[in-house]
This record gives sequence, structure tokens and C-alpha cells, in this order.
Amino acid sequence: MLTFSPTDRIFILTGAGVSAESGIPTFRGVGGLWRNYRIEDVASPEAWHRDPQLVWEFYSMRRRVASEAKSNPAHFALAKLEDALQDRLFLCTQNVANLHEQAGSRNVVHMHGDLFKSRCDTCSRPPFDDMNLYEPPAEIPQCECGGRIRPHICWFGEVPFELDRIYRALDECTIFMAVGTSGVIQPAASFVAQVADHARTIYVGPQKPANASSFTECYMGKAGEVLPDLFSSF
Ligand code: OAD
Repeated sequence: MLTFSPTDRIFILTGAGVSAESGIPTFRGVGGLWRNYRIEDVASPEAWHRDPQLVWEFYSMRRRVASEAKSNPAHFALAKLEDALQDRLFLCTQNVANLHEQAGSRNVVHMHGDLFKSRCDTCSRPPFDDMNLYEPPAEIPQCECGGRIRPHICWFGEVPFELDRIYRALDECTIFMAVGTSGVIQPAASFVAQVADHARTIYVGPQKPANASSFTECYMGKAGEVLPDLFSSF
């Protein structure tokens, strides 16, 4: 069980592992999405340029899977922690589904975007809610400006969202916890090294991440089993 002081500020970074127990596949490892798809075919600006239909097939499949998924005890434990800590908790996720929100989390920073939003690839029309599936024979949806509607996702080679807010919160945190992330994708993988001089650093997951040596504490286990225990005092 973890205890925090009243002045602690907690930064939590979640990855695909936090939703594994909800039935959403992770990216790497057994059954991971990148075992069946090549990143360069479905998750890059070049892929979009080359074959937008294939890109939409991939994100439509993910929309379908995510829309059927339910939050698990890890998401609920984090929502309860936010109730207790309010703005002393900064929840940053690399995940694009909405299972944190479904569990009751109110302030979630989606650094890799939002699976249920789309935007125009040409004009500055703001991203909008979109649950549609664009699978063949559906056409690629078009914006009024003539541009094509793309998923509101940070692809490889693009800059993640909200980095200014994220770096401010990293500077201010006294405890940094990463949950269910393999520690290989930048910039998220280097957050832990950035806080090492001023924060306690904790990892939660069944396997050691690639950046395990940067953490001072590791709790090995499934997020849905470990987090409710770690936060049981809140
Ligand atoms: P990965 O698939 O790379 O890693 C998932 C991690 O979750 C692994 O370290 C697993 O050990 C762990 N894990 C599996 N089951 C778990 C469980 N029940 N509880 C806790 N942990 C568990 O996913 P991410 O690190 O999130 O980016 O991937 C980072 C980014 O790479 C993603 O956001 C995505 C991907 O390519 C983009 O698409 C831009």
C-alpha cells in the first residue's frame, strides 16, 4: 500500500498494459498489434498518403474493439485516486481509447490522441467526435474543404499532444508512476529519467520495461490486481 504526503504531486503514465485486462490488445509481446500489422503500413503520415483505406481499416477495427471494452479495476483505482487527490494527480495516457474516462477519471491527457475523434488532414477545423467505422466499401470521409478525414491519432513521425502541459507536470511531480508500458516509445519512455532528480519513481506491470533501470521501485503484476492494493488507503 502506498501513502502520500499532503504535498505530494503524482504523475501517472499509463500504457497499453493498463487496458490488457479489458481485452484491448497491447502493441508488443504475444498477441500484440504490431505482430499482425506493420507500423509503417497503418500508423504513419506516409501510410496515410499511400493507402488511407488500409489506415482506416486498422483504426475502424480498433474502434470496434475499444467500443466493446469495459474499464477494469486498474482504471477504477486510478479514478478513485483522482477523487482523493484532485489536481495533485496528473494522469497521462498513451492509450487512445476512453477506458479511464469510462471508469470516472475526469482529467486525462491523451498524449497519443483519441480513437473516437477524427479531424481533417488539410484544414484547421477542430477534431470532432466520431464513432464511425470506415471499412471497405465505405469511402474515405471528406471534409467540406475537400481534405480527407483522418483519425485524431499521433502517428509515428508526428509530435504527441499536450507536451507543454506534460513537461510542466513532470517538473512539478514528487512521485512518478508508470503502469503497463514497455518503455520503448519516445518521448514517454524518457519521462522517468527526466524526473529522477526530484521524484520517487515506480513501475507497475507483469514484466520489466526496457527502461526498468531508471525506476527506483517496481511492482511486478497485472495492473488490475496491483493498483487497487497500492491505492487501498484512498
Ligand atoms: P506496449 O505494447 O509496448 O507495452 C505494453 C506493456 O504492458 C508491456 O510492458 C507489458 O508487459 C505490459 N502489460 C501487459 N499486460 C499487463 C497488465 N495486465 N497489467 C499491466 N501491464 C501489462 O504498449 P505501450 O508501452 O503502451 O503508440 O506502447 C507505447 C506506444 O507504442 C503506444 O501508445 C503506441 C505504440 O506503438 C502509437 O501508436 C503512437
